[in-house]
Amino acid sequence: MNDNNIFAARMNELYGLIEYHADLYYNKDNPEISDSEYDSLVRELNQLEKDYPQFARKDFLTHKVGGVPNDLFAKVNHEVPMLSLDNVFDFDELENFFGRINLTSDFTCEMKIDGLAVSLIYEDGNFIRGATRGNGHVGEDLTSNLMLIDSLPKKLINPPSGKIEVRGEVLMTLERFNNINKIREENGETPFANPRNAAAGTLRQSERNNHIIKERGLDIFLYYLVDAEKLGINTQFEALNWLSEHGLPTQKAFEFCKTLDDVEKFISKWENERHKLNYVTDGVVIKFNDLTQWQKIGSTSHAPKWAVAFKYPPEEAKTKILEIKISVGRTGVLTPVAVLEPVRLGGTQVQRAGLHNADDIARKDIRVGDVVKVRKAAEIIPEVVEVDKSARTGGEKIFTMPERCPFCNSEIVKIPGEVAFRCPNRASCPAQLKESIKYFASRDGMNIKGLGNRLASNLVDAGKVKTLSDIYKLKFEDWITLDKVRERMANFVLSQLELSKSRPFVNLLTALGIRDVGKNAASLLVEHFGNIDALINASEEEISSIEGIGSVIAKSVHEFFRNEENLILIENFRNLGFNLSTSRGDSAIAESGKGLNNQIFVFTGTLSTMTREEAGEKVKSLGGKVSNSVSSKTDFVVAGDKAGSKLKKAETLGIKILSEQEFLNVIQF
Ligand code: IVH
Repeated sequence: MNDNNIFAARMNELYGLIEYHADLYYNKDNPEISDSEYDSLVRELNQLEKDYPQFARKDFLTHKVGGVPNDLFAKVNHEVPMLSLDNVFDFDELENFFGRINLTSDFTCEMKIDGLAVSLIYEDGNFIRGATRGNGHVGEDLTSNLMLIDSLPKKLINPPSGKIEVRGEVLMTLERFNNINKIREENGETPFANPRNAAAGTLRQSERNNHIIKERGLDIFLYYLVDAEKLGINTQFEALNWLSEHGLPTQKAFEFCKTLDDVEKFISKWENERHKLNYVTDGVVIKFNDLTQWQKIGSTSHAPKWAVAFKYPPEEAKTKILEIKISVGRTGVLTPVAVLEPVRLGGTQVQRAGLHNADDIARKDIRVGDVVKVRKAAEIIPEVVEVDKSARTGGEKIFTMPERCPFCNSEIVKIPGEVAFRCPNRASCPAQLKESIKYFASRDGMNIKGLGNRLASNLVDAGKVKTLSDIYKLKFEDWITLDKVRERMANFVLSQLELSKSRPFVNLLTALGIRDVGKNAASLLVEHFGNIDALINASEEEISSIEGIGSVIAKSVHEFFRNEENLILIENFRNLGFNLSTSRGDSAIAESGKGLNNQIFVFTGTLSTMTREEAGEKVKSLGGKVSNSVSSKTDFVVAGDKAGSKLKKAETLGIKILSEQEFLNVIQF
């Protein structure tokens, strides 16, 4: 065998191996080798392909799956542009739309799915590329992420030979969406506003985080077979059937409609029926069924003339306002919330509606006891649209903002020029403190898992925390006495708190919750000043001179550090050993939210999800250290199955012990 043959043979072997392991990983959810072993096969193949392009298989799966840094997705040109749709809002507009070009019969009606559009390419029945719509002409290559959607077939049933392109919508089912939001709220994270945002946020993950796609779970429905004619298909109705016969999921909610009358019946029928579906729809897409005419009928620059979207009006319902409650946010702003007589709206039971602010209530003249119209658009929280004044009985009560905070009794202030009313008691209002703790512990802040809504409330109600740094003084005994906190939870939170101490400076600066300062502004401040003392001593002018920081933020930051209590808080964090200055590598670690900052880990016992070597590699890649023996310098002992003497020693020395699950939590987020 000459050298070339040896390389060709090795490449063939690698193609086979990678296909086999990719199938186990992506389709069977049951990998035999570690991610790093898999990556090294891909790397070896990539190198060989560069050196011996004559032996490369052009459309092989891994060109998209492995090795490519996914932070910035590659660009993809859509050969056939991915157009949008024109909208119509009533039957007249619908009839005009088609009437103008004399299309009066033979349509297919489908529900309009509220997700994100993607294009999938199959070659000889194998999924080889998937991309987003982007601007319609150029999208992003999301192949490796789309691979992680279970309902997206990686191979077609009875595939045609050659290349086909299909298009459809990636979505998150309502069930998954509700579960995820519940967990996010418990963890003090901001819930997703709607399933579409959740789906989009989930799909655009870097390679490093793409396990999230599997964990959260996405789905896909296809509705468009590009170049259907080439496969001998003449109508959209047949195309939809073709898709599902070949294993591509389609929605059940579609019908052939002979006349526009039938179309309108379909639209009316599904206006309510759609709430029984497990995914969000916001209209009906009506397509002229004979697709052989589509080209001739033509398109504008952004939308076809052979199809249109009928958008349902936002859903509305009438109900009664039972009470107007006040919630107090992290920065003390009072927000009125209407408590409603429960009413069904958009498939769910609604009991609360946002009222924005006092001015809005006055403008709409909303009173307690009023019958009101509530509306839910794409967002999950409904709003009060208007009052049904004809239903007034005279017993309704005009709402006024309280003069004192319902949580701490401080006198409420209204800053001239602002619509907001505020509780000025930043230091000890329990409502503000609860929100501040949640924010402090959130992902962009100190990323303390487990410390969400419930624990934050419990801590404040039990009087255990008066200021943020108090959280770090709490012992096991303090946590375990909280309502519904068991030993496992107490240990978990304690280990999370310990870890959080080594987060980069930018996380702490974000976590402090300075008014108007989120993660972005905090990064700019850290970059400019480098450490907390420089920031504390900076003048308002210097702060506002930073590009990206306006005068409002500068004022808030400057004011924050003029407050004695805030300075004490910073000193407390200094004494606890927090990072109050930048160090090299911060930004990368901050990005992943999990710097281990030289903390020393010892592993003992057997881990079930990875080898100890892999666990060690992971720790090192996150900036931590691994040692073989336990000493007073050890920060964490990770105890797997049958852990022995090292565990005993750790217990004697009082070193934090993590279960495998706790360790996984530490490294995965
Ligand atoms: S057909 C050339 N069918 O709605 C037209 N689109 O507002 C191809 N959409 O970009 C689109 N459900 O992302 C079609 N059953 C359906 C759809 C659908 C949702 C989306 C699609 C499109 C957007 C336009």
